[in-house]
Amino acid sequence: MFKKRLKLDIKCLDGFVSKKELKDISPEIKKAHNFLVKRNGPGKDFLGWVDLPEEVGSSHIKAIESEARNINSNSDAVIVIGIGGSYLGARATIETLEPKKINKNIFFAGHNLSGDFISNLLTEIQDKDISVIVVSKSGTTTEPAIAFRIIENFLRKKYGSKKIKERIVCITDEKNGALKSIAKKRGYKSFVIPNNIGGRFSVLTPVGLLPIACAGINIKELIAGACAERKDSLSENLNKNISYKYAAIRNILYRKGKKIEILSSFDNSLHYFDEWWKQLFGESEGKGGQSIFPVSCDFSTDLHSMGQLIQEGERNIFETFLVAEKQNVRCIVPKNKENLDNLNYLAGKRVDYINRKAYEATRSAHFEGGVPNNTIWFEGKSAFCLGQLFYFFEKAAAVSGYLRGINPFDQPGVESYKNKMFKLLGKP
Ligand code: PA5
Repeated sequence: MFKKRLKLDIKCLDGFVSKKELKDISPEIKKAHNFLVKRNGPGKDFLGWVDLPEEVGSSHIKAIESEARNINSNSDAVIVIGIGGSYLGARATIETLEPKKINKNIFFAGHNLSGDFISNLLTEIQDKDISVIVVSKSGTTTEPAIAFRIIENFLRKKYGSKKIKERIVCITDEKNGALKSIAKKRGYKSFVIPNNIGGRFSVLTPVGLLPIACAGINIKELIAGACAERKDSLSENLNKNISYKYAAIRNILYRKGKKIEILSSFDNSLHYFDEWWKQLFGESEGKGGQSIFPVSCDFSTDLHSMGQLIQEGERNIFETFLVAEKQNVRCIVPKNKENLDNLNYLAGKRVDYINRKAYEATRSAHFEGGVPNNTIWFEGKSAFCLGQLFYFFEKAAAVSGYLRGINPFDQPGVESYKNKMFKLLGKP
């Protein structure tokens, strides 16, 4: 099991971020740190995630594990309905750790309004035994609400109104919202999303934990990783807290005109982790006419689409590499007698070794091309390391937002499209 501490490698920031600049920003970091500790900064009512890893009790874990066992015992497909913070943490974990190969089929819905998508999903799983986990903190978000109405209808036809009660779990607010009323009226089981935790900070609540447990992933390990990272990020001192150091670096670079951050990884299974990261930073920081635009790249894939732009386009980019120290599975390049492809110089080498060289070459080429970059190293793809990474980035996003002088925990801008859409749809 991979359990080493996270590392931050800043070699490729030389000439872009100086020791003096890090020292100069330290008082601002201290102020942001105090907002978190004293709970008196903007959005102070949404700090439930800060101590959450320590506070998740064993009875809560047991209840979630028991519900996951119950779901798994009567279904061979689980549909997780939700959008944004109500689905990305679960999807990030499940897709990164790829348990599908050995475990259940987990499907996601409610994150778009494509009729094709939902019809195709129902066709794909029509012969399976299905359970549904529907997640919405507000309980009123249109996309998951529509998906739930359609899927609930489908289940009702398949199993009948009484039996679907065993197949639906709602995760929502303790008291308010349409989903809460539905759960109560129709007798569906439900789990609560704490009031003081916003969607994008909710992966360690039932929002993330129940789907992750259904996928056969050890949620205790996930929480243990977050606990370890919480301990590692208690200090206000940048030299002792790499989460704060990362937040400081981003803001130093931003103030120098580096307004786009690319999170780059050399492992396609991290794709949805990167999507989670994009939401975390995009919604937390994009306010008041300021923002670091968070983008993600899957390398090598995107080296052959975005690589040119990163290397030689406008110099307003910085990059954060997310790299695993070790891989889970060995894959070796075979020897070939004819060697028509001239690849025998790599015969016997692990593909991971070649991938590592691709990373080393890319970070150095981008650095030399004027793209400062840092690397966050985690030991390997495990629930523990993902727990570390979730907490690391949550804390960095909070502090980064405070450095910018905004409330990192709200998302008022998201309402604009919703209001226009409701008007167009004639919502009463
Ligand atoms: O981070 C957030 O708060 C948002 O991304 C929400 O999670 C997202 O909008 C979904 O909202 P809800 O859970 O209320 O359906």
